[in-house]
Amino acid sequence: MLVLTTFHVPLFMLRLGQSNLYRSDDYGKTFEDVTYLINHTFIQTEFGIAISPDHSGKVILTGDVSDLGGFKLFRSHDFGLTFEPTDLPFEPLIQMLFNPADCDVLLTLSITVQALSIRFSMRVTNSTQENNICEIPSNLHGQLIYFFVKNLLKNDKGMLELRRSSDYGRSFKTVASRVYSFVLGGRFVFASIMTGSGTERMIHVSVDGGEQWNMAQLPTVNHEQFYSILSASQELVFMHVDDPGDSGVGTVYVSDDRGTVFSKSLERHLYTATGSDTDFTVVSSLRGVYMTSILTQDGAVETVITFNQGARWQLLKGPESSRCDSETSANRPHRCRLHIHATYSTSLKLNVPMLPLSQANAVGLIIAHGSIGESESVLSPDVYISDDGGYSWFFALKGPHHYAILDSGGLIVAVEHTNSPVNQIKYSVDEGQCWFSYNFTSDPFHFSGLDSEPGSRSMNVSLWGYRSDYSRWVVITVDFKKILSEDCAEEDFEEWLSHSEPSGGSDGCVLGFKETFLRLRKGAACFKGKDYETETEIAPCPCTPSDYHCDFGYFRQENSSECVEQDELKGRPLEFCLNGTTEQLQTSGYRKIPGDRCMGGFQPDRKETDLKRKCISNALQPNALVSAFTVLLSSAVIGVWLVKKYVCGGRFLVHRYSVMRDNVEANKIEGVDDVDTNYMETAKAQYNEDSDQVYMT
Ligand SMILES: *[C@@H]1O[C@H](CO)[C@@H](O)[C@H](O)[C@H]1NC(C)=O
Ligand SMILES: *[C@@H]1O[C@H](CO)[C@@H](O)[C@H](O)[C@H]1NC(C)=O
Ligand SMILES: *[C@@H]1O[C@H](CO)[C@@H](O)[C@H](O)[C@H]1NC(C)=O
Ligand SMILES: *[C@@H]1O[C@H](CO)[C@@H](O)[C@H](O)[C@H]1NC(C)=O
Ligand SMILES: *[C@@H]1O[C@H](CO)[C@@H](O)[C@H](O)[C@H]1NC(C)=O
Ligand SMILES: *[C@@H]1O[C@H](CO)[C@@H](O)[C@H](O)[C@H]1NC(C)=O
Repeated sequence: MLVLTTFHVPLFMLRLGQSNLYRSDDYGKTFEDVTYLINHTFIQTEFGIAISPDHSGKVILTGDVSDLGGFKLFRSHDFGLTFEPTDLPFEPLIQMLFNPADCDVLLTLSITVQALSIRFSMRVTNSTQENNICEIPSNLHGQLIYFFVKNLLKNDKGMLELRRSSDYGRSFKTVASRVYSFVLGGRFVFASIMTGSGTERMIHVSVDGGEQWNMAQLPTVNHEQFYSILSASQELVFMHVDDPGDSGVGTVYVSDDRGTVFSKSLERHLYTATGSDTDFTVVSSLRGVYMTSILTQDGAVETVITFNQGARWQLLKGPESSRCDSETSANRPHRCRLHIHATYSTSLKLNVPMLPLSQANAVGLIIAHGSIGESESVLSPDVYISDDGGYSWFFALKGPHHYAILDSGGLIVAVEHTNSPVNQIKYSVDEGQCWFSYNFTSDPFHFSGLDSEPGSRSMNVSLWGYRSDYSRWVVITVDFKKILSEDCAEEDFEEWLSHSEPSGGSDGCVLGFKETFLRLRKGAACFKGKDYETETEIAPCPCTPSDYHCDFGYFRQENSSECVEQDELKGRPLEFCLNGTTEQLQTSGYRKIPGDRCMGGFQPDRKETDLKRKCISNALQPNALVSAFTVLLSSAVIGVWLVKKYVCGGRFLVHRYSVMRDNVEANKIEGVDDVDTNYMETAKAQYNEDSDQVYMT
């Protein structure tokens, strides 16, 4: 565990700061001050600690020695035991990014003022030579660099060019022009491009890194509206399209496997234009499950959930044994709904210290703050848990808490979120049904946050905070091995058919197959261990309407699985441009969900005919190919961050230790205490790595 503390006083142009580096190799039980390893160099908060995605022993720190005129890179190959310094001949603007396809290469951005140009600097981590450029194949996302060129003379967002480099910046190719914004998601590159007429723009998509663009079949938006990718996988994309006017809502569309033909999935989706806050949450503990919030006509915020990748959404069911049951609620049937608090609530500064939490290896488990009532309540929320991927929920803890999943779901821990000093940690060994407390110290402290080894396989949880004199950080590590000392045996597990509702109704078929998991029995208190792998068994299913998204121009009505034609598009077969020729779509309203593996059964007609008519997508206008070399470059920050989020983003990373992040500002325990506030670019992703939200305007 490496802890970096940074203290920074902004004094005019002068930077006055001090950093300390601490290292622990016993899960935080003891720390050694190793600041001397980096020669007491100041590390900017924004740069923090960067860890290689391929090997967590590779750590880099970017030191600021601007008082001596420069920056220094400190590289470690041995989990921070030793560091090797290198002078950087430029000033990095952003944290160094590892190329996920070749982690010996780092990328950062720097602006050299004299030349007004952007400079990419790469280096092979164990070579001290500058700009040591590696030859790499150029057909993959992870190996391409995309960035924007902004013309300073025409400082207009819709006039940007999207350029791509496959040789680490030695040469660039313009892949789109008249671009307003772009984003990488899954295997797709999306760009919103101005249409000929001026103020409107359309999404264009490419699946080959920008060589071939197709126009996405989505509504156009004007300058006041925005598009946003809510989630992108290798198979499909969830796209939010803002409604006209300042309504705070829009429509969610799901794409086909080419990212080209979209169909309407959810209306009145809450997404504030000002703060870009949406509750869209990918539930990573069960496939096909997503949650988000809608804003009803009368202004109530309600949580909705889908179990089949957006084909159908439904309101979340309230807990069965909630106090609602006994009350007379005959004339108020909505009274007992459960509302989950996510980003929107934190943006309103409600007392919600954490976003919903789910982990792929803790099958079916979701922990979230929620409240019961007609709509989202502003009162202090409680902790609710679902152990079946969101079908049913139960009340777990009173009041707001910080929580973590340990031992692949075999253990849940929680610490109350309060203004007073704490000394208690609560834990549950049966997925949140029964809770116990443990006093981890006799001298309570002001709790700031908790963290465990990424991947939720650990039994150690580290809590950090400070005592009343504010002088020192305190880290306390609790090892739960003593409680769960016995290894799990075969009889501790039971079969569980996922997506089978307790009340019946669903047979477990989702996206074309049933999946049976071996899960820990509720009564079993045992240790799964670090190498635990979830065992599953898969059985194919015949196709039913729920294996289909409604096709372009069709929509599912509430409570119905049938797709009906949207009035405004009736009788007009869709024609769209695909790879340069016009395709005509003849559909009976259903399009198989990308990745769905169902066989036989319901097989509606759908045909795409190539009309053999040439067409062009206006992503790359011929004259844009001749890109003038006089273009002045200014900022490319957006582009590189997006590369990081989608490509270098947490999903494939396995860290062997956590990076604790906190800063002085985050100490203040008030309302929503976001311990990751210093990581502005990644703050949202930190909570739930799968809820990638990129605001695409
Ligand atoms: C450590 O920093 C001091 C100045 O603060 C400098 O004189 C010295 O050369 C540095 N040592 C190394 C090994 O970089
Ligand atoms: C990096 O270091 C390893 C081991 O020291 C060596 O085998 C490898 O060739 C080096 N790579 C480069 C690009 O210098
Ligand atoms: C644990 O701490 C709480 C106060 O936070 C105290 O009331 C309780 O008695 C303690 N329990 C034990 C066993 O010391
Ligand atoms: C917990 O920490 C101890 C070191 O203090 C370590 O030996 C043990 O392996 C850790 N347990 C887990 C499950 O990570
Ligand atoms: C959908 O079903 C729910 C509960 O079964 C019912 O309350 C609601 O009115 C139905 N909506 C429509 C449009 O039929
Ligand atoms: C369109 O182009 C993409 C990328 O070049 C290719 O993968 C796809 O197969 C093409 N589709 C058709 C229908 O030709």
